[in-house]
Amino acid sequence: MTEQDFILKSYNPHIERGKVKWSSPSNIALVKYWGKRDNQIPENPSISFTLSNCKTITEVTYTKKEGNDFSFDVFFEGEKNEAFKPKIQTFFERIEAYVPFLRDYHFKIETSNTFPHSSGIASSASGMSALALCLMSIEEDLDMDHADDYFNRKASFLARLGSGSACRSIEGELVVWGQNESTVSSDLYGVRFEGEVHANFNNYQDTILLVDKGEKQVSSTVGHQLMYGHPFAKERFKQAHINLAKLKNSLLSGDIDTFIEVVESEALTLHAMMMTSMPYFILMKPNTLEIINKIWSYRNETNSKACFTLDAGANIHMLYPENEKVNVLEFIKNELVSHCQNGHYICDQIGLGANQIED
Ligand code: DP6
Repeated sequence: MTEQDFILKSYNPHIERGKVKWSSPSNIALVKYWGKRDNQIPENPSISFTLSNCKTITEVTYTKKEGNDFSFDVFFEGEKNEAFKPKIQTFFERIEAYVPFLRDYHFKIETSNTFPHSSGIASSASGMSALALCLMSIEEDLDMDHADDYFNRKASFLARLGSGSACRSIEGELVVWGQNESTVSSDLYGVRFEGEVHANFNNYQDTILLVDKGEKQVSSTVGHQLMYGHPFAKERFKQAHINLAKLKNSLLSGDIDTFIEVVESEALTLHAMMMTSMPYFILMKPNTLEIINKIWSYRNETNSKACFTLDAGANIHMLYPENEKVNVLEFIKNELVSHCQNGHYICDQIGLGANQIED
């Protein structure tokens, strides 16, 4: 599909009000999106596990209004929130061409997360995807029933314009974003990984070890910009294609060792890019390294298949097969919790994507 296919051409102007509600999960990238061109087009392909428990729940009430400006209020966890408004304003400006009814209604946006706000977990993927899905349901109210495929594609397309990684949160269990030679894909929206995934990856677990719950030192938007003129950018973008191809094969064959190799290397490469940009950053904390070293020792000593990945921050996502759950959780409690801020961690697992909530 092209950008033109996502433009809503006409809609019923007589609908006065309505309410829609969605819950949408976060996702964790295995091959990382880091670097983008204009209009949120990724420089390289990425693939992620959709999560299950870490979600944003958003309800949008829309009411017909006069005037031609954007009009919306945001409530976060029950309280009016001004801090989120600029991001949503930018989002509306970017998507207006595709959802022209945005100026006809006042939107009351009520949103909350299932994970603690100050956990250092990025909520932009779940938040922007939940809002994009609400807008798609409004489009459906005003327009007509879309085929399922179109609905999800356009929701992902809109979510991408809010935050790149958000386009990978609409569906599950694995989603690819960014054109590449190994999978069905698009730069404009996320596509469910179409390959048959080996049973070794069924219900794959993600325990998020909260090393640092503070504000991020670099926002991802600034981080992506650091890839402009980065001395290693070209090689990095090439490497992502190679890693995606390797990961695809490991997912199909059930080869967890190769999976681990790609996933850990991707996480460290992401951080290496930040350490070698200008200006440069170190986002890992001493406890991040402590945990990584302990995971490596644990793997050597026990033949476990647990591995780690990182976002653009200090927290660790520990990924492991379901059949190791009891042992790994024991290991976390005994050895890793002491490196987490206030001993906090969140248990999650691979999930199926967003859900509409009917009240
Ligand atoms: C490190 O999607 O947050 O999590 O498009 O500027 O909103 P924007 O960036 P964002 O970047 C996420 C980067 C990452 C890797 C990934 O999720 O692929």
